[in-house]
Amino acid sequence: MSKAKKYMSDIHLEDYTEQYESIQAVADDCIFIKGRNLRSLNGKWHYAVDQYDTCVRQKWFLERYVDENGFTLPVDYSFDKWPTMELPSCWNTMDDKYLLYEGSMIFTRTFTYSCDTDKEVYLRIGAANYLIRVFLNGEYIGMHRGGSTPAFFKVGDKLKDNNRIIIQCDSTRRPEQVPTENTDWFNYGGIYRDIDLIIVPKTHIKDFRVFLMPTGLFDQVFAAVNMSEPVDTIATLSIPELNIEHEFRIEKGYGSCTLDCRPELWSPENPRLYSVELTCMSDRVSDRVGFREISVSGRDILLNGKPLFLRGISAHEDSVKNGKALTRDERIENIRIAKELGCNFMRVAHYPHHEDMAVLADEMGILLWEEIPVYWAIRFDRDKTYTDAENQLKELIYRDYNRASVIIWSVGNENADSDERLAFMKDLAECAHKIDKTRLVSAACLVDAEENRIADRLAGYLDVIGINEYCGWYNPDFAKLPELMENSNPDKPVIITEFGADAMSGHHGSRDDKGTEECQKYVYEQQIKFLKDIDYIKGMTPWILYDFRCPRRTSFIQDYYNRKGLLSEDKSYRKPAFSVLKEYYESLKQSE
Ligand code: GCU
Repeated sequence: MSKAKKYMSDIHLEDYTEQYESIQAVADDCIFIKGRNLRSLNGKWHYAVDQYDTCVRQKWFLERYVDENGFTLPVDYSFDKWPTMELPSCWNTMDDKYLLYEGSMIFTRTFTYSCDTDKEVYLRIGAANYLIRVFLNGEYIGMHRGGSTPAFFKVGDKLKDNNRIIIQCDSTRRPEQVPTENTDWFNYGGIYRDIDLIIVPKTHIKDFRVFLMPTGLFDQVFAAVNMSEPVDTIATLSIPELNIEHEFRIEKGYGSCTLDCRPELWSPENPRLYSVELTCMSDRVSDRVGFREISVSGRDILLNGKPLFLRGISAHEDSVKNGKALTRDERIENIRIAKELGCNFMRVAHYPHHEDMAVLADEMGILLWEEIPVYWAIRFDRDKTYTDAENQLKELIYRDYNRASVIIWSVGNENADSDERLAFMKDLAECAHKIDKTRLVSAACLVDAEENRIADRLAGYLDVIGINEYCGWYNPDFAKLPELMENSNPDKPVIITEFGADAMSGHHGSRDDKGTEECQKYVYEQQIKFLKDIDYIKGMTPWILYDFRCPRRTSFIQDYYNRKGLLSEDKSYRKPAFSVLKEYYESLKQSE
């Protein structure tokens, strides 16, 4: 191709993304970060709205300002003259003109780095929705798919004293993605969790897990380490409050140890955490870990060997002011309100929330159901879609493995039954079970509407069956609920993962008037009445803690919000149903 034609090729090259597919950040690129010093790249980044993906089409990252003969070339960008946006953030809430923008934005900044040849450096992006491509000093570093899990890129050998980083963030919804283009929540775009450089020794601790051996005896702690290289060496685990200072062998990069001890057990009522440190060669990491065991026995869910009822509530990661980029205070507030409601459990739906949510849940004492966005009509027939879903699941598990509060990995929500869907989600459930033998696996399943009973084929691969049922709302006839309970005979615990009703704050009418506070209150009263004595129901996470943005909801009471919250979207107003659920949970706590 002639040079002239080559220069103009980008206006014809329609498969311009193909050339970027070869370098993907995936779960196996993740490293353990707790206790490490992070060099933050948060702050003001220059940005441009790139509706036509011109940056990656024309390869702006090459910064070709002159041709091979030294003639100046016209360019369609001016990186450091672009306006700036504070990152991490969702662009939708940073400027009204971007509220409904979906597509690519280009973010760039420069930074200095004092190179240290005997160190490795990772760039970690806590989360960006949905797809990012990263360029550093004129070189393509790689891409990441998945809107709610971290991406790691090795950049040690790419860094200079003065660096330019460019990140394309593309929030476009697509049928083959996870989730697809159709969901019941707002599609925020942006690099909305922390951006850090992580400087580690060339040979470093890649993965570190420490947990109570799930033997039902609560008398052994297990620790496992994966190093970045297949080295033979010694690692030291220390848990001072348990008088543990234990050296153990690492062979070909892997080592583990099982130690007899009886830690004080973690629970929502007693969120006891221990400081844990691991050193190996010249690397060191640390964490604050709770030791507990979660298991099922017949139709019971056991925490530390005792049956419990999961008094829960669902919550999106949504903020009027910050979109998905909640502040730590907003996360603390959400947990505090849930605990005030009488909860010992939260379903953080429908995608991995910020890792800080599980850290806070560990500290504040609340159990979590965490979920990947295999939501509604996923392309279950498409291998690459499965790869994307499984990668998000692994990235979530690797990220939150040491979090005592996390007891359930959910592999999806409300997926119509089909052979492809069963194969897809069975594999996800088996993947979670294989990676993590210390937690339960579930999914929010649909009721078999024809027979009005719990009969999802996926249940056979789950430890706990989640059921979304909207009797009194989408299924207006309340009589269907006791019938559903009567018709069902599950051989394992069931959590009612969703029931609820929309209510606009302050909107009143009769209990039959949909959208009123009275109607929502009545739905909660009736749901509790019919569910409370069902012996195989071991928890519930009604939908939902507070109203959240949703483009599908346009009625006069919704105004682009899903109004099933027990609180208004800014959490300033409590609807009467809040007290109904609180009263029920208080009664359960009394009987514990
Ligand atoms: C579904 C779905 C939720 C949705 C809710 C609703 O069950 O899981 O994501 O928001 O119902 O319709 O409000």
